[in-house]
Amino acid sequence: MTHSNRFIIFLIVLFAAVGTGFFCYAEQDLERLDPWAFESPRRPGAVFSHDDHIFLADDDCSVCHHVYENGELVPDESSEDLYCSDCHSLKPGPDNPMPLEAAYHNLCRDCHFDRSQGPVLCGECHVKE
Ligand code: HEC
Ligand code: HEC
Ligand code: HEC
Ligand code: HEC
Repeated sequence: MTHSNRFIIFLIVLFAAVGTGFFCYAEQDLERLDPWAFESPRRPGAVFSHDDHIFLADDDCSVCHHVYENGELVPDESSEDLYCSDCHSLKPGPDNPMPLEAAYHNLCRDCHFDRSQGPVLCGECHVKE
């Protein structure tokens, strides 16, 4: 093998590595929630890394995917097989514990306030695409 052939192979390997690296990064960077449950979303879906947040919630899924019985939080039970919108519908009503938009804002923003960490401004979560 000549020097120049080795150099070309080196370049191909290099570009392949940089290429996959770039796509992995791009995918991570664009983790955000899909606001599909809202009829006509007015904001870009909120940026949200689910993996990072599992860690931030100490692996306790029920911090977000909660279950209530008669208004009481049921410890050690979680509802990750359901969408938030399965229980929190868009409009207030007798069977709706809290409309969906408020449910998201209260869950996300309150924890960021409580911990003095994480975004609390509109444009920090609803980052333009
Ligand atoms: C901590 C993150 C966070 C902050 C801060 C935040 N939001 Fe949201 N917001 C969400 C999430 C999560 C949803 C659920 C839909 C989604 O995934 O984007 C949502 C939903 C919405 C919706 C309903 C869906 C839509 O696009 O029509 C509106 C409107 C909205 N937010 C406006 C605002 C405004 C205005 C502010 C600032 C006053 C704000 N949000 C601040 C996270 C946030
Ligand atoms: C910080 C809040 C938070 C924590 C902690 C969390 N999740 Fe989630 N998870 C969400 C949100 C928000 C969604 C999107 C819900 C929706 O689309 O209605 C979601 C979606 C999901 C989904 C997809 C459901 C679907 O079909 O859309 C699964 C599965 C899931 N989470 C599992 C888990 C498990 C298992 C844990 C614990 C190891 C966990 N989550 C911890 C916030 C959280
Ligand atoms: C199985 C049904 C169910 C699912 C799924 C569910 N919730 Fe709830 N949620 C409730 C009920 C019931 C209450 C009212 C509790 C009470 O009576 O005070 C509640 C209360 C809340 C509250 C106010 C209490 C608090 O913890 O601060 C917020 C915020 C909230 N939900 C957000 C969410 C979000 C965001 C999701 C999705 C990640 C979600 N909920 C998924 C049933 C559900
Ligand atoms: C249990 C508490 C908790 C809940 C619930 C929570 N967060 Fe966070 N979030 C945090 C903390 C703590 C940080 C700061 C992490 C850091 O800076 O390392 C954070 C950081 C973030 C960031 C910034 C990430 C970055 O890389 O700078 C975004 C965006 C975010 N959260 C969105 C959300 C959304 C959207 C929700 C609701 C679906 C949510 N969070 C619910 C605790 C929470």
